[in-house]
Amino acid sequence: MVTGALGQIGTDLVEELRKKYGNDNILATDIRKIEDNPGVENGPFEILSVIDSDSMDNMVKEYDIQAIYHLAAILSATGEEKPELCKKINVGGTVSVLETAKKNNLRVYAPSSIAVFGPDAPKTAPQITPLNPKTMYGKTKVIGENLANEYWHNYRVDTRGLRYPGLISWKSPAGGGTTDYAVEIFHAALEKGHYDCFVDSNTRLPMMYIDDAIRGTLELMEAPINEIGNSRSGYNISGLSFTAQQLADSIAEKIDGFTCNFIPDKRQIYADSWPDYIDDSQAKEDWKWKAQFNLEKIVDSMIEGLSD
Ligand code: NAD
Ligand code: SER
Repeated sequence: MVTGALGQIGTDLVEELRKKYGNDNILATDIRKIEDNPGVENGPFEILSVIDSDSMDNMVKEYDIQAIYHLAAILSATGEEKPELCKKINVGGTVSVLETAKKNNLRVYAPSSIAVFGPDAPKTAPQITPLNPKTMYGKTKVIGENLANEYWHNYRVDTRGLRYPGLISWKSPAGGGTTDYAVEIFHAALEKGHYDCFVDSNTRLPMMYIDDAIRGTLELMEAPINEIGNSRSGYNISGLSFTAQQLADSIAEKIDGFTCNFIPDKRQIYADSWPDYIDDSQAKEDWKWKAQFNLEKIVDSMIEGLSD
C-alpha cells in the first residue's frame, strides 16, 4: 500500500513498485481522486485519508497488504500556512500507519526530510546532531522519526525511512514545499522562457533527482535487516547541492534565452534554516548508498521528460 500515492514522489514510486512486484500487487491510495493523476491508473486505487485508521485497517485486510509506503503529508510551505492541519495529518497519519502495521504485522517505509535540521545544525548536516527545526513541518518529521523508532524498539515493527533532500521530478508537480522552485523553474523555462524564483540567487540546498530517491527507497527497503542500524527511521542521503543561481545558469546553457529573476518570499526563511550539504556516510556504510545524478544529468533528464 502506498499512501499519498498521487503526489510528487508517489507517482514515481508506484510506477517502480508496480514494475517490480506487478501492477495488481501495489495498492495506491490518496485523499484525492485518481482523475487528478492518471499516471497511477494501471493498478488498484482507493480513496483513503491517513487519519482514518479504521478504513486503513480494513483495506490492509481486504488487499492482504504486507508493507505500507507512507507518503501522505503536508509539506513545509503549506505546513507553515496551516500548522494545525500539518500536525494533524503528519503526526496523526504516521500514528495510524504505525498502529495498523503493529496490528497486522506489516513493514513500514515513512520518509523524513532535511527539514528535521534547524539553524543550529552544522551546514554539512551529520547523521547525528541536535534536531531543532524551525518549521512545523520539520517538527512533525522529527516526531515521525521518533515514533517509528519507538515502534521498532517496543513492538519490532520493521520501520525504515530516508531524510530526502529537495526532490526534482517531472511526472507530477511538487506539492507545497520550499524546494518546489527547483521543479517549477523547469516548467517555467520550457513554457515561458522565464522564471521568478522565490528564493535568493545564493540559496544553496541539498537536492536529489527522483530516480536516485526512488532507487534509494527500494534499496533501503530491500536491505537485510542486520544491515540497518540506529538511523533506520531517518537515514541522511545526499545527492548534490547547488545554489538557485547555479540551477538557473545550468538551465540557460540548455534553453536559449532563459532568464530568471530572484524575488524571495517567506519560503526564504525556511530555506535558510536548512543545511547546505548532507553527510550521508552512515547510509553508505550501512547499506551501500550512492547517488548517481549530477546537475547536468538532472537538467537534461528534466528537459527531456517535460518535452515528451
Ligand atoms: P506531495 O504533496 O506531492 O504528495 C502528498 C500526497 O498526500 C498528495 O497527493 C495529497 O493529496 C496526499 N494527502 C494529503 N493529505 C492526505 C490525507 N489526509 N490522507 C491521504 N493522503 C493525503 O508530497 P511528496 O513530495 O510526494 O512527499 C511525500 C513524502 O516525502 C512526504 O512525507 C514528504 O514529507 C516527504 N518528502 C518529500 C520531499 C520532496 O522534495 N518532495 C523532500 C523530503 C521529504
Ligand atoms: N521538499 C520538502 C519541502 O520543501 C522538504 O521536505 O517541504
